[in-house]
Amino acid sequence: MRNNLKGLRALVTSGPTHEALDAVRFLGNYSSGKQGHAIAAALASAGADVTLISGPVAIPAPEGVRVVSVVSAREMLAACKAALPVDIACCAAAVADFRPKRVATQKIKKNGEGLLLELVENPDILHTLSHARARPKLVIGFAAETHKVEKNAREKLKRKGCDWLVANDVSGGKAFHAEENQVIILREGVTIRWPRMSKIAIAEKLVQQIQEFL
Ligand code: CTP
Repeated sequence: MRNNLKGLRALVTSGPTHEALDAVRFLGNYSSGKQGHAIAAALASAGADVTLISGPVAIPAPEGVRVVSVVSAREMLAACKAALPVDIACCAAAVADFRPKRVATQKIKKNGEGLLLELVENPDILHTLSHARARPKLVIGFAAETHKVEKNAREKLKRKGCDWLVANDVSGGKAFHAEENQVIILREGVTIRWPRMSKIAIAEKLVQQIQEFL
């Protein structure tokens, strides 16, 4: 890959977040971190100075990137803010939308009656970065959709205020933990459907587009 991004700073979020429920449990999701880590690796190969802000994952960190390991959405947001200013922000993490309102310090015991959880919304990291005072020149988000992928993603692009959105269909285990994915790239007024390819190939193609854009 050409070294066109030399001198530019990038931040990438990757993996899931875990939201504590009690002393031994959390709410999480199936994100593996493969796509976000591959993007961080491709940006570094293109010469960028990369900070990878990763939730709990079981895969190794790519070489040549600065890794900040976080657990919850609020920790991920704080790490992103601390990484600013950057030229490129790519939010590939599957951030938990909700967290338990209360975190029990001890293990919650069953009592034969089930358990009603009260959840509160987490901060939106992509939205925050898209509206930051030190806004990156290019903010890229992902959209995990299970239905009406293009329509929902187009609305999400507007709502989040990012520049590009990489939309994928996550229904039926098509994306989480898979080695391959099929994505649609959305920009204002433009929709490009990429063929199914490996997550590494998606990362490289995306970074090529970033180099052309910048
Ligand atoms: N995202 C984020 N912070 C959140 C939730 C999502 O930064 N609290 C980012 C993701 O990293 C991704 C984009 O927002 O880049 C879209 O995530 P997605 O889960 O598809 O959408 P949601 O914001 O959860 O919206 P919805 O529930 O309507 O699908």
